[in-house]
Amino acid sequence: MSRLASIHDNLPLSRSVLEVPKSATLAINEKSKLLQQQGHDVIRLGLGQSPFPVPDIMVSSLKANANSKDYMAVQGYLPLREAISDFIHRTEGLHRTADNVIIGPGSKELLFGLQMVLECDLVLPAPSWVSYEPQARLMGRQVFWLPCHAKDGWKLTADTLDRHCRQHDSRTQLLILNSPNNPSGACFHQQELKDLARVAEKHNLIILSDEIYSELHYQGEHNSIAQYYPQGTIISNGISKWAGAGGWRLGFFIFPDALKPVLQSMIVVASETFTSVSAPIQMASISAFEGSEDMKDYINACRKIMRAIGLQLTDRLVQQNINLVTPEGGFYNLADFSNYKEGLLKNGINHANSLSQKMLEATGIAALPGKDFGLDHGLNLRLAFVDFDGAQLLSRVLKNPDLALDSETPELKRLFSVSDRLGEWLKNL
Ligand SMILES: Cc1ncc(COP(=O)(O)O)c(C=O)c1O
Repeated sequence: MSRLASIHDNLPLSRSVLEVPKSATLAINEKSKLLQQQGHDVIRLGLGQSPFPVPDIMVSSLKANANSKDYMAVQGYLPLREAISDFIHRTEGLHRTADNVIIGPGSKELLFGLQMVLECDLVLPAPSWVSYEPQARLMGRQVFWLPCHAKDGWKLTADTLDRHCRQHDSRTQLLILNSPNNPSGACFHQQELKDLARVAEKHNLIILSDEIYSELHYQGEHNSIAQYYPQGTIISNGISKWAGAGGWRLGFFIFPDALKPVLQSMIVVASETFTSVSAPIQMASISAFEGSEDMKDYINACRKIMRAIGLQLTDRLVQQNINLVTPEGGFYNLADFSNYKEGLLKNGINHANSLSQKMLEATGIAALPGKDFGLDHGLNLRLAFVDFDGAQLLSRVLKNPDLALDSETPELKRLFSVSDRLGEWLKNL
């Protein structure tokens, strides 16, 4: 007994792991679960999971391949890699072959592998998705946050990037760009990407273009920096968001020829860690990338629903005097509550963390604080507008593509009530 206690006292836990703080995301998720168990009506805008079911063609294919039991090639199943290189050609006009693709158990795992094999600094626009920075910290890499502003639609500008690179020109840097963006819903336009590409080329940056929401661009007009800086850009994507299959755990990276040595190193890491993604999942995922009419209908319907929610919910929140930039794709927007600064302060709320906690208690609406996305200051919360019956609404839109979607749509009524609930709370502070 005493021996056990002394082992526990001296557990050799990795310092880099201990230094990564527990994220506020978990705290909010735990708290909203607790409130739900206590019978409160909680609208969960914290978790960024697709509300839609996996497309039928993928599910049928998974059933048909359920008995595939062999280990797959470490780099990924060749027909899937071919389908992905065709997909990238069709959607972005880029010629990259199946040899340039690696399949992983989610793009998150591949991002971790990339940070393991590249011994360089990480450059992130603030705000950025929650996991890039902790992964870099786990690897002991230095992270530079580049400030972005609501007036620029929360997008990194070429000037900000250039200023940073001029200060750190002697070092190799990995820049992660994410469009459509989590947490802001921002999408880069062509000229913005051209400007960023010019800077990236000048400073020899390696770019990871995280395009996990690509097919959820509201107008179906996703642009990639790989079109303007192909030699230095690795594209990351997968089936988690636009094919509703986060729990299937499949993502991919596709490399330019110039960065093939990075790919080779990642294959080494993959061979010594996850070995390969499950065989049936790889086989069933082929249909996600083939561009069939079924898949097009599915994506168009998801897009229509997310566009209707993203635009209308943003409008409704703006009417409540909350500042937002209108999202252009994906599941999220970033709400700034600074117009209510005084009332919030009177209630002891001076930071996004306390704002998200108190808002949940007072209104039953769970959202994530900007701090988790690299916004240290300000009263910003990310709203993931995915708490609705996506299966039912998707099936209705597939049957009737012209279906009107608004606050009277039965599946969306509760979600749209967020703006009234928030307005009432804020005005009575
Ligand atoms: C911006 C972004 N990138 C990457 C991921 C990871 O996706 P996955 O590992 O499911 O492919 C997510 C998931 O939430 C995300 O929001």
